[in-house]
Formats: sequence, C-alpha cells, structure tokens
Amino acid sequence: MQNKKVYLNGEYLPLSEAKVSVLDRGFLFGDGVYEVIPAYFGKLFCFDAHLERLNKSLQAVRIDLNLSEAQWLEILQPLLIEGDAQYVYLQISRGVADKRDHAFPSDCTPTVFAMCSPITPFPKEIGVKAITLDDMRWELCNIKATTLLANILLRQQAVEKQCAEAILIKNGYATEGAASNVFAVINGVLVTPPKTDDILLGITREVVLKLAQENNMPVKEAVITLEALKTATEIWLTSSTREILPVTHLDDKPVGTGQVGKFWLTMQQYFQDYKKAA
Ligand code: PDD
Repeated sequence: MQNKKVYLNGEYLPLSEAKVSVLDRGFLFGDGVYEVIPAYFGKLFCFDAHLERLNKSLQAVRIDLNLSEAQWLEILQPLLIEGDAQYVYLQISRGVADKRDHAFPSDCTPTVFAMCSPITPFPKEIGVKAITLDDMRWELCNIKATTLLANILLRQQAVEKQCAEAILIKNGYATEGAASNVFAVINGVLVTPPKTDDILLGITREVVLKLAQENNMPVKEAVITLEALKTATEIWLTSSTREILPVTHLDDKPVGTGQVGKFWLTMQQYFQDYKKAA
C-alpha cells in the first residue's frame, strides 16, 4: 500500500515519493479543504455533487482554483484501484509560503493532493454504538476544511468508549456526527437536522433524503432535540465511507429495540440499488 500511486501537483508518484514542503500551509495551519469521494464498481459516485461542494469550500476559504469537472476527472480517474468500493481523498491546501504568517501570502500556488484507498467494510447489519458529546467546533462546519482537530478529539472520545461515532449536541440540538450526518426515526418519521452552517452538507445525506422522498418514506429536515433523539426508534449515521450506519445503542442505552430497524433495512436496500444503478 505504501507504494500505491498518488497524485501531487500534476504528477503521479508512488506514495513514498510524494513529498510536501514543511512550509506548506496545510501542514502549518491546516489551511486547506478536502473531499472524500466514493467510487463503486470503478465509477466515482455523485461526482458532480462532490465537486460542487469542493468549489463552495474553496470559495469559502478563498483558495483560487477553478478546474472543470472534466479536468478533475482526468486527474482522479487514473487513481482508481481494483475493487468494488474505494474512495478518493482529495486535498487542496493554500500552498507553500516563504514564511509562516497567519494572513494569506501574496503569491501562493495551491497544493493539490489525491489518493485512492479501499473502503473498509463496516459491520452495518449488527449496528454500532454511539455517544453524545458537546459540539465544541467552530461556526463554519459547512466548509469541508482539513482543520479537523475538534472532530478528531470528539471521534477519539467515542472510540475510547468503544463507540463508532460521537453525535454532537449544540445548544440542546443534535447537529451531526464527528465525521458523519445524523438521521433519526421519531414518531414514525425519518428526520435529519436542517441545512445550516452547523453541519457539513453530506452528499450521502442528500442521497438518503432523495431516496426517502422518491419512495414515499415519511421524511423531513427539522431540528432534533437531545430529548427527542433519546426517544428515537432508529438512529443512523451517513457518510461517504460508512454509507448508512445504524446506531443500536446511544449512550449505552438501546435505540428502539436495540436492533437495526425496519426503516434502515428498507433504506439500505434503496441505497444499494441506487449505487448499482449510478
Ligand atoms: N467525512 N459531517 C462531517 C463532519 C463529515 O466529516 C462527513 C464526512 C459528513 C458526511 O459527508 P458525506 O456524506 O459527503 O461523506 C458529515 C468524511 C467521510 C471524512 O472526513 O473522512
């Protein structure tokens, strides 16, 4: 794996030969944005939606890089490896400056890095445990920024409690997971928190919403209080690398029956069919 081919600034190199300067602002400040794009059966999934979000992140942090969909495809496609499920990690930092200074350097070329890895299968059918934690991140969680220290600390706390994810609570409301979006079935309706700057607008979240609507599953985007989350009969986490993951235990208490629920079983089928057709 160490010698897989990666992309760095216009070149394809073995991973061990891909090197970035210590003055890169991605290294010094986490000054960059990224995407995680799944690929199924050799094809990038929801590629247009991922690029649209990437362009929004680039604009939000004022990194000037405008590549067309065709140009990105030309860069990323050669990285795809054998296997049914992989993901491309694409990172763009502001680039290398000649000295460390918080403000933008006047002349800086963005560093573009991409690599492809297999998606590790997750034990979805048996579900996972999650904990709730205080969402202590910043106010622009809609930007897919590489500056992820808060998310890392939150996920680590979850892992240390034998949980797969931390569900974050801000002012009494669920926002999202440390690296996923959250859905809950409450009073027979599938609910996910609304689009605000408190959450990353997940591409998997969008697909789940679309599939629920198309198949007449009761669904809405609405706030979820911590109290309501505790009464949910199902909780799911969605992301590009874990797809739709049912949470069977929240804060050590069973969610619903403590088994994966019937909404999830139905949505899982819709999602797998959609992947194959995409
Ligand atoms: N993270 N919210 C956060 C904070 C995330 O980091 C992610 C994904 C999502 C889900 O977005 P999507 O469905 O587009 O993957 C929501 C990726 C997988 C990561 O950082 O590795």
